[in-house]
Amino acid sequence: LTVDWEAGHYDTGGYEHYLLKEISEQPDTVARTLRGRLDDRFHIAHLGGLNMDARETRSFRRVKIIGCGSAYYSGQIGAQLIEELARIPADAEPASEFRYRSPVVEPDTLYVAISQSGETYDTLAAVQELKRKGGRVLGIVNTVGSAIARECDGGVYLHAGPEVSVASTKAFTSTAVAFALLALHLGRVRDLSPADGRRICEGLRRLPGQIKEILALEPQIKELARKYADSPSMMFVGRVRGYPVAREGAQKLKEISYVHAEAYPASELKHGPLALIGPEMPTVAIVPDDELLDKNLTTLGEIRARGGRVLMVGHRTADPKLADDCVVVPRNETELDPILLSIPLQLLAYHAAVALERDVDKPRNLAKSVTVE
Ligand code: G6P
Repeated sequence: LTVDWEAGHYDTGGYEHYLLKEISEQPDTVARTLRGRLDDRFHIAHLGGLNMDARETRSFRRVKIIGCGSAYYSGQIGAQLIEELARIPADAEPASEFRYRSPVVEPDTLYVAISQSGETYDTLAAVQELKRKGGRVLGIVNTVGSAIARECDGGVYLHAGPEVSVASTKAFTSTAVAFALLALHLGRVRDLSPADGRRICEGLRRLPGQIKEILALEPQIKELARKYADSPSMMFVGRVRGYPVAREGAQKLKEISYVHAEAYPASELKHGPLALIGPEMPTVAIVPDDELLDKNLTTLGEIRARGGRVLMVGHRTADPKLADDCVVVPRNETELDPILLSIPLQLLAYHAAVALERDVDKPRNLAKSVTVE
């Protein structure tokens, strides 16, 4: 085994916390996840560790993704990428739920287990259950040679380097990028056109530079975090591609700042949670400039009509008619939007936690790697 990170990487590298260091490393860690994997001739992704030939890769009729915590939310982004680019039905489920409900394991389903540490017990147990029933399991794992990596039939390593802070940031982003590579790979052995393959390859190559641009927004996001951190509770909403981003954003906020946060699909607000909206419960709305923009803007109107404050994260420049505050991220290909939209929410949670003087890297009651049931 070779380990390609240096001992010096284990200190905070001059940052106040590991979390901020890990957020700031993402232009680099995303580049490492992509390195050597994009093919400009055929517009495909090379993923040597999958251990599957083209015929086998074409044979799957479903993809089932499992993981815990942030890994699960990155799996939801992954499921959408696979459906969009490869047109294979895909969904994600918490590994713990999956293993306890005696899952039906089908031969033409590709199973994908996600884990930063590679040691999460529920995910490992789910993989073992799948293997026992003859399922084909790939791992998307950060830690080389970890238990989950060893148990899987093949997979993709993230190469994101060690993640020390309990809350996952760079591994989350790299997992979403690894899923984009896997979706490209699955798509290009099926019906994804060379032109679309090229579009996604080019979009992936733009990510590190665009993440750098988002990190440069830190002073603005820090101000916003201070402004919103004293709310007792926050709502996060998004539609389709924006929904897993909202879930991960809410997860980050609650785990490190202890501010209560809920995430809902924007379309579900009117079926219950709208009753919570008022001046004391601000909403973070994930609003990319995609085909759902108008629907999202209608939702913002509904929130604001009930006195709710809105912090919009998307592509639109600040417009006081739409939202109280806006964080504008660079555009990429729409399929890749969730990757970039997640970054400001990491900074928002980080600065909220700092403003509230929380133990940012070691939040109470949580562990980096849950190796027990
Ligand atoms: C713990 C951590 C989370 C992490 C989850 C899954 O709950 O606090 O940040 O997302 O485990 O960890 P894994 O190592 O399997 O990705």
